[in-house]
Amino acid sequence: MHVLSVSSLKGGVGKTTVALGIASAAFSRGLRTLVVDLDPQCDASTGLGAFGEFRETCAEVLENPKHNVVLRAIVSSSWTKARPGNIDVMIGSPRTISFDKPNPTMRDVWKLEEALSRVERDYDLVIIDTPPSLNGLTRTAWVSSDRVLIVTEPGLFSVVAADRAMRAIESLKNGLTPRLQTLGVVINRIRANSKEHEFRIKELTDLFGPELLNVQIEEKSTIQQAQGAARAIHTWPGETAANLAKLFDDLLDGALASFAKPLDRRAIKNHKRFARLSRIMRGQKWNGELLEIELDQKFSSESD
Ligand SMILES: Nc1ncnc2c1ncn2[C@@H]1O[C@H](COP(=O)(O)OP(=O)(O)OP(=O)(O)O)[C@@H](O)[C@H]1O
Ligand SMILES: [Mg+2]
Repeated sequence: MHVLSVSSLKGGVGKTTVALGIASAAFSRGLRTLVVDLDPQCDASTGLGAFGEFRETCAEVLENPKHNVVLRAIVSSSWTKARPGNIDVMIGSPRTISFDKPNPTMRDVWKLEEALSRVERDYDLVIIDTPPSLNGLTRTAWVSSDRVLIVTEPGLFSVVAADRAMRAIESLKNGLTPRLQTLGVVINRIRANSKEHEFRIKELTDLFGPELLNVQIEEKSTIQQAQGAARAIHTWPGETAANLAKLFDDLLDGALASFAKPLDRRAIKNHKRFARLSRIMRGQKWNGELLEIELDQKFSSESD
């Protein structure tokens, strides 16, 4: 199982859209896929056709990541009505807002990793949709992730927010979970023939260099139509949908290639704070040891 968070520190740039697009690519390719909807707005759950009242959701999982709670919080997506496959969602809830504290404890931020370790054998890919902030929920998502994909729009504040997100990931990685890496930055909602967008794209290229992914997503109303109908973009008719689907295939390919790269084990071994604080549970890749953590320790990832 590999885990990818989709994040930005600015709202409305297309996190949920990109998370669902990659989920659609994975679903179409036959990967066993789970989308974790960690945003209290629950847009990913809606896009996957999981509406209504649910007793067990991400909120209950973060409260108590026991095996049966985790299983009850996961439902199958209605996407499978249009095409058979394996796509599930860990249901979002407005109640998760209570876990979005600015100063989460160590114990808080490892809850999702613990939950995912319970279903490790059930999925090939987990995609986490996060809220647009750097509070407890996003950090919980990142701590349980192998990679983070940053989404940005070609606008001034989005560029600044993407840069902040990259730096926050770097400091969380250094302080807590060396497994975590950025997958890169993807630009969404580009309008052709916009001088402002051209300028911002150049700025993003200068700022992020190779971290800026080649995939660039244009603004297309087809995306909104498919989302509104709670359908996977890969099963939506028309050429525009097919072209968009191809972009999400490329993003998925990039993520899978990145997961396949080996970790620098020496760096991990030398990582003193890691040895003291980490308690990665999925995979147990390094030495199988579960290290105790300091439960009441607070950490701040925004400044070093
Ligand atoms: N490339 C695109 N073309 C057209 N519409 C888009 C595109 N990307 C996103 N949108 C639309 O823009 C709105 C915001 O996108 P989305 O919900 O994916 O952003 P978000 O970053 O998840 O927002 P939030 O921060 O509120 O979670 C949605 O209505 C979505 O359908
Ligand atoms: Mg969203």
